[in-house]
Amino acid sequence: MQFQLSEEHLMIQRAARDFAQTECLPGVIERDELQKFPKEQILKLADLGFMGMMVEEKYGGAGMDTISYVLAMEEISKVDASVSVCVSVNNSLVCYGLQQYCSEEQKQKYLIPLAQGKKDGELYIGAFLLSEPEAGSDATSQRTTAEFKGDHYVLNGIKNWITNGSSASVYLVIAQTDISKGHKGINAFIVEKNWPGVVVGAKENKMGIRGSDTHSISFQDVKVPLENRIGVDGFGFAFAMKTLAGGRIGIASQALGIASGSYELALKYSKERKAFGKEIMHHQAIQFKLADMATRIEAARLLCLKSAWEKDQHLDYTLSSSMAKVFASETAMWASTEAVQIHGGYGYVKEFHVERMMRDAKITQIYEGTSEVQRIVISRSILK
Ligand code: CAA
Repeated sequence: MQFQLSEEHLMIQRAARDFAQTECLPGVIERDELQKFPKEQILKLADLGFMGMMVEEKYGGAGMDTISYVLAMEEISKVDASVSVCVSVNNSLVCYGLQQYCSEEQKQKYLIPLAQGKKDGELYIGAFLLSEPEAGSDATSQRTTAEFKGDHYVLNGIKNWITNGSSASVYLVIAQTDISKGHKGINAFIVEKNWPGVVVGAKENKMGIRGSDTHSISFQDVKVPLENRIGVDGFGFAFAMKTLAGGRIGIASQALGIASGSYELALKYSKERKAFGKEIMHHQAIQFKLADMATRIEAARLLCLKSAWEKDQHLDYTLSSSMAKVFASETAMWASTEAVQIHGGYGYVKEFHVERMMRDAKITQIYEGTSEVQRIVISRSILK
């Protein structure tokens, strides 16, 4: 066992850190305030190969490993979690799912431009459509229907809280084909946003990750060709679960970045701010907070990297990705709250960034499986 990053990993980490500082930091407060999608940043990340990091080069990706992905996600999330959620969804829910489970024709048509993040010079990213108004944690209760008509399906229903909802060109849609078969009657489809009957609903006005565009998407008699179904009939639920296991590494790394970013700001502030005649870092109350933050963040980082390593070694990473996600997201919520506390009154205003990080942290305990869902996955795994 060795805990050292390779030269290549360090280079990717540095590139992501530099990008976050030079391209994401300027304007981050305004984008949050105005709920502005970071299109410019995503296009530049596409040019750097960060939108299809784990996709093989022959399919337009950067051919990097999952460890590199964790490192990049942490660095970007330290500065702007609205950028990193878009990176995470496109990389792990969309591109990785397509690379693993799609046909060669589907890869040629969709994966290549999605992994490049661009088509004909324009933004080209994807979204993952599983959640519904009445099917969040209880993901088998899909109400969106995909009626089979011989050479095509007809899609009807509504999906909720869709990240990249209006920016995406391609949707991976999970829908029920045969309700009598339960989860085995569920299919997954590749649907293009501009097809007739696809309607993008209003943008959600969110607490955090406000730059990311979250919408409901509805389907009204949308004709989906048979060749756009992913895998064999009834594979949709397994596709969603397998893909989400990888997605959870992405969101765990996002949470890790929010935690470490808020810790770094709190550390810097504690060296500058004076109270009772000395910098606050000399007060034990602050020292103990920083010590606990550094320790928990390191533990979260190790869980993320272990899960990434298991994925790269083709081992089962379902348990480790849920452990990483629940621990990192709870660390992010706690550490960002402590960072606000260390900043005192300044922590409560926007200019010091930590209040945004505290708002951004909350969603990491909810999306891609709530903390409660992760505990279901973990307990089932250890009890079986
Ligand atoms: N890989 C392969 N198959 C899996 C699997 C996995 N990781 N997990 C479950 N399955 C299979 C099971 O083996 C079972 O199949 P069999 O009956 O053939 O054995 C089938 O799927 C059903 O599994 P369960 O009985 O465990 O299903 P359940 O109803 O008890 O639910 C759950 C399990 C873990 C709670 C699941 O519903 C779940 O993960 N819910 C959360 C959904 C979620 O994460 N939503 C996030 C939305 S996406 C998002 O947020 C993206 C974004 O925009 C940021």
